[in-house]
Amino acid sequence: HGEFNQKIDYVFKVVLIGDSAVGKSQLLARFSRNEFSLDSKATVGVEFQTRTLNIDHKTIKAQIWDTAGQERYRAVTSAYYRGAVGAMIVYDMTKRQSFDHVVRWLEELRGHADKNIVVMLIGNKSDLSTLRAVPIEDAKEFAQGEDLFFMETSALESTNVETAFLTVLTEIY
Ligand code: GTP
Ligand code: MG
Repeated sequence: HGEFNQKIDYVFKVVLIGDSAVGKSQLLARFSRNEFSLDSKATVGVEFQTRTLNIDHKTIKAQIWDTAGQERYRAVTSAYYRGAVGAMIVYDMTKRQSFDHVVRWLEELRGHADKNIVVMLIGNKSDLSTLRAVPIEDAKEFAQGEDLFFMETSALESTNVETAFLTVLTEIY
C-alpha cells in the first residue's frame, strides 16, 4: 500500500465548517475512505481523518478536521482553527438557510484563522438538483466577492469531492 513508510513532506490542516446536516462528515468520509452513509449521525465535538497524497512529486498528508454544525455540540473554536491552512465552508444547495449562514461561518473563520488561509465555498448535495434552493449564480457571485474558491459537490454521488479537496490542497502548496 503506497501510503506505508512514505516520507511526508508536508502536513496540511484543513477545517470543515457549515450548518448541521449540510454533509461535512460525509464529504470527509468520501474523501478519506471513499465511503458514504445516508444515516450519518450529527457530529459531536471534533473528529479528523487523514489522507496522504502526492502533489507535484511531494508527499502531502492532509489532516481534515470536522466539527459539529450545531452550536451545542461544538468544541473550543480557537483550538479548531489553530494551524489551519485551508478551510471549506459547506452549505446544502437544497437549504437556503444554510447558504444564508455562510456569512456567519466566514466571519468566525476570519476571526480565528490565519489571514492567508485558502478558503473554498462548497454547495453540497448536487445530486438533489431538482430541489435546488440556491441558484449557482448567487453562490458564484458571493464567492467571487469574498475571494473564495467555489464548487458544487455531491458526497453521495462522489461528484467533485476529490477535485474540491485537491484544489484546496494544491492552492495551499
Ligand atoms: P453535523 O455533524 O451535524 O454538523 O452535520 P454534517 O454537516 O456533518 O452532515 P452529515 O455529513 O452528517 O450529513 C447529513 C445528512 O445529509 C446525512 O443524512 C447524509 O447522508 C446526507 N448527505 C450528505 N451529503 C449528501 C449528498 O451529497 N447528497 C445527499 N442526497 N445527501 C447527503
Ligand atoms: Mg458531521
